[in-house]
Amino acid sequence: MNQDDLKRAVARAAVELLVDDAVVGVGSGSTVDLFIDEFVRSGRRFAGAVSSSENSTKRLRGHGAVVLDLNDVVASGQPIPVHVDGADEIDPGLRMIKGGGGALTREKIVAAAAGRFVCIVDQSKCVDVLGNFALPIEVIPMARELVCRALREIGATPRVREGFVTDNGNLIVLAAGLSITDPVALETQINQWPGVVTNGLFARRPADLVLVATADGVETRRAR
Ligand code: A5P
Repeated sequence: MNQDDLKRAVARAAVELLVDDAVVGVGSGSTVDLFIDEFVRSGRRFAGAVSSSENSTKRLRGHGAVVLDLNDVVASGQPIPVHVDGADEIDPGLRMIKGGGGALTREKIVAAAAGRFVCIVDQSKCVDVLGNFALPIEVIPMARELVCRALREIGATPRVREGFVTDNGNLIVLAAGLSITDPVALETQINQWPGVVTNGLFARRPADLVLVATADGVETRRAR
């Protein structure tokens, strides 16, 4: 099985966890792209999707799926029982680094609105300690150097993702060299810095379960 086969297997497994006739939270990334394909083609009845990126919205609409505005869904009191998203790294506590595709802020917003966060990954994303993958941080452009300086002060090596603008019109700063032993504390700390929209640590609100594609099949893991 190559990596695409693994991603498709885990995407297919996530479809089984959806709730009929409900709004579905949809994340971003190449694994979620396959989830979108599998879920729309599965014929499962759903009330519409809330999307966490322009890319996912385009893919959903390309399949003829209804994409709902999150504000409308929340204001109408409709629940989002399941949100499905990928990760760049996930630890045994189901805390994640996300945002490799630059969509972390909208992903965090949709995750916050949803009931159950189902993370879909292949085995390569599972780590004991987060931080080998450079932490993406969405930053308002005028705060770029201030945020980079603050990152150096906590031992990180920052670099701006070249030629990339987020769906919200901001920059992504990548913080390499962090060994993240207390992800909740670091998520909270970085989010306090002026100019940071949000960072790619999903630790205060971790996943509720993770589906991991391995060569032997899809495993379901809960937080240890
Ligand atoms: C997008 O901004 C990310 O958070 C993705 O969920 C993450 O990068 C995983 O993407 P892949 O499924 O493409 O590895």
